[in-house]
Amino acid sequence: MKGYREILKDFEAISGPIEPYAQVLRKYAEKLQEWDDFFAKAFYDRLYSYEGTAKVFREGEREEREEALKIWYRKTVSGDYDDAYWEWQYMGVGIAHVARGIPNEYMLSAMSFVQRAFMVKVKEEFPPDEAAAIYEAFKHITDAIAVLIAAGYMYTYLKAVSESTGMSLQLIDRHAVLVAKSLKESR
Ligand code: HEM
Repeated sequence: MKGYREILKDFEAISGPIEPYAQVLRKYAEKLQEWDDFFAKAFYDRLYSYEGTAKVFREGEREEREEALKIWYRKTVSGDYDDAYWEWQYMGVGIAHVARGIPNEYMLSAMSFVQRAFMVKVKEEFPPDEAAAIYEAFKHITDAIAVLIAAGYMYTYLKAVSESTGMSLQLIDRHAVLVAKSLKESR
C-alpha cells in the first residue's frame, strides 16, 4: 500500500507543486475561512437530498458532520499544511469513508461539488483576476486530496482482496491487467 507521501510526490511531479498554490491561499485565508458555514450547509444539503448519499448517514448525525466539514474547509483554505494534514486527508477523509461503505464515485462527485461551489462563491466575492487565481489554488489542493481519496480507496480494497483470498498484491495487479485486456477486447 502506497503511503500519502509517495502519492503526493507522484501528484506534484505530474500535476505541479503544491507550495505556490498554498501561498496563494495563505494570502486570502482569513476571508475564505469566513465561508465555512456556507460550505457545510451547501455540502450536506446536497448529500442529504440524494437518496444514495442520504442513506449513509445515521439518525441525528448532521450537526457533527457539519462541524467536521467546517474544520476541514477552514484548514484546507488556510494554505498551511503539514504532514499531519496530509495524513488526515489520506486516512481521515479517504479511508475513514471507505470504513462507512461510501463508494469512490460519491467521494469524487462530492469533491467536484465542493470545487464548483467554491468557484461560484469566489467569483461573487473577488474581482475576476483574483478569483481565478484563488480558484486555481483551491482546485489544485483539493485535486491532491481527491487523488489521495481515490488511491486510498483502491489500496484498501486491494488489501481486503489480498487478505481474504491469500493472493499477493502483485498477483492481483497481473490479474487486473488480464481482466482489463479482456474487457477492452470485448468492446
Ligand atoms: C469531498 C468529499 C468529502 C469530504 C472533504 C469529507 C470530509 C469529511 C471529514 C473531514 C470527516 C471527519 C473525518 C475525521 O473525523 O477526521 C468526514 C466524515 C464523514 N463523512 Fe465525509 N467528506 C466527504 C464526502 C462524504 C460523502 C460523499 C459522504 C456520504 C455519502 C460522507 C459522509 C461522511 C460520514 C458518514 C462521516 C463519518 C465517518 C465516521 O464514522 O468516522 N462524506 N467527512
